[in-house]
Amino acid sequence: MNNKTNQMQTDFLVIGSGIAGLTFALKVANHFPDKKITVITKTNSDETNTKYAQGGIAGVIDETNDSFEKHIEDTLIAGDGLCNKEIVEIVVKEGPARIKEIINYGARFDKNEKGDFALGKEGGHSEFRILHHKDVTGKEMERALLQAVTNTKNINIINHCFVVDIITQHHLGYLVTKSTVDITCYGVYVLNLNTNLIEKIESKITLLATGGCGQAYRATTNPKIATGDGIAMVYRAKGRIENMEFIQFHPTALYEPGISPSFLITEAVRGDGGILRNKKGEAFMEKYDSRKDLAPRDIVARAIDNEMKFEGTEHVFLDCTHLPKEKFVNHFPNIYQKCLSIGIDVAKSYIPVAPAAHYSCGGVKTNAFAQTSIKNLYACGECASTGLHGANRLASNSLLEAMVFAHRAFENIVENASEIFERKNIIIIPDWNTKGTIEPREMILITQSFKELQQIMSDYVGIVRTDVRLARAMKRLDLLFEETEQLYRSTKVSPQLCELRNLITTGYLIVKGADFRKESRGLHYNTDHPCKSDIIQNTIL
Ligand code: FAD
Ligand code: SIN
Repeated sequence: MNNKTNQMQTDFLVIGSGIAGLTFALKVANHFPDKKITVITKTNSDETNTKYAQGGIAGVIDETNDSFEKHIEDTLIAGDGLCNKEIVEIVVKEGPARIKEIINYGARFDKNEKGDFALGKEGGHSEFRILHHKDVTGKEMERALLQAVTNTKNINIINHCFVVDIITQHHLGYLVTKSTVDITCYGVYVLNLNTNLIEKIESKITLLATGGCGQAYRATTNPKIATGDGIAMVYRAKGRIENMEFIQFHPTALYEPGISPSFLITEAVRGDGGILRNKKGEAFMEKYDSRKDLAPRDIVARAIDNEMKFEGTEHVFLDCTHLPKEKFVNHFPNIYQKCLSIGIDVAKSYIPVAPAAHYSCGGVKTNAFAQTSIKNLYACGECASTGLHGANRLASNSLLEAMVFAHRAFENIVENASEIFERKNIIIIPDWNTKGTIEPREMILITQSFKELQQIMSDYVGIVRTDVRLARAMKRLDLLFEETEQLYRSTKVSPQLCELRNLITTGYLIVKGADFRKESRGLHYNTDHPCKSDIIQNTIL
């Protein structure tokens, strides 16, 4: 029997309360004070990847030594030939204005004795251009944005509200395929975790800001919420996804067996002089790249992977013993305390580190105004693929990208406001169908499949790939997909089941993208295809 499904209406629906979602919500709320903005988030509003960002946000602030040209060039080099140059220029040139806005919202960035911003440096950057708040930059930015949102009357945040699917013509009984023109988003079905009921939210405009998918891997710096939900939802709705093979592994996550997510040791530590060493104590990066420890992430992560495989170890070391202790503690108080809590005094001992899945460069394909291939659906932040990162993201460009595209989505909406708000939706969204479903009896089926998925992705689709490994991964994912779809059809939905389902889809997209790309480029390294091809294109999935 179908239960009546509650329905809510909103002008703007924002899915996600990280930097992308909150920046957008504030902009539309201030510009359209009589419109209703609803932000939904699947756990607590501050539990986001954003909160864990450490190193900072890149931007051309020091106009004496730095320039837009240099930041553009660094981004293009890191992206290994696949960045969209026009998008890179947009982000770099519009970035400083967005940084000023978040400062106006109250975000505090560290300053030096002269009162100028204390700019840091990370891998792939030719200049000092990273603004930071100690080693907890994301926490500070999230705090400032949430505070501003709380002070804004027409924004309503609903926590513990899990989006299951976006509603399109498919739910109205029409056949929707990838070639359907004008696939349109009318809102979403959510599982309200406060009532445990499925509800419908109808919206004029929906912004997807659901973040990344690091949880597809066993070792990841991403919190539990990063399960690729938005990417999987858009794929199910037949929207465009691209470049999923480019999963960025951060070179230096703290090696702590059994602890998940992995604690990050920010690249800024290497920016301040930290040196990677192998088991024998050798500084090995000079063997791999002339930029040594500050080469782009794909190169450093592969070098570490190689050293670990060669030595048969599960980690290498980051040596900070030569750095002035007071300066270290002042810049990285959180890292210093974390290391101390597990018995490592960074002034005396090396820090054990290993690469961990960190960032998804691909995602929902968007244009220069954050529009997806689905009408009325915008996407920005980590779930989107804007063309900025290409085959490998330059450090600290992610927070910047999220703010730039939140703004551009907003501008596009302002331009089209009369059309958007005069439009009358005369659709009737059907209730959620629970017919034939029962309460899940064995959670172990979900938790075990979750572990299997992470194992498959880590063992076969990690830093170094081969054709055979990818084929194996696909076979195993097929089986997991079949089993999970069967479970989804027969049991009541739960966040755990939805997340598993979304991660399997995301895993499939990563493998499919990796299989299409018969070359090694940026973060995608396949020993069966070690060279770059002449044809440079995105993998549209
Ligand atoms: P997030 O901040 O991840 O927010 C996602 C939101 O979506 C959450 O509110 C979540 O609840 C919600 N959501 C997801 N699925 C659903 C669903 N089904 N239903 C309802 N809500 C849902 N980048 C930098 O530029 N500089 C850095 O220094 C930096 N350091 C980092 C350090 C760490 C440890 C990590 C993990 C990442 C770091 N990054 C950094 C990357 C950067 O933090 C992220 O890419 C960025 O914060 C993503 O922001 P977002 O708004 O897109 O998503
Ligand atoms: C870090 O602080 O090393 C992470 C920066 C990033 O992911 O951009």
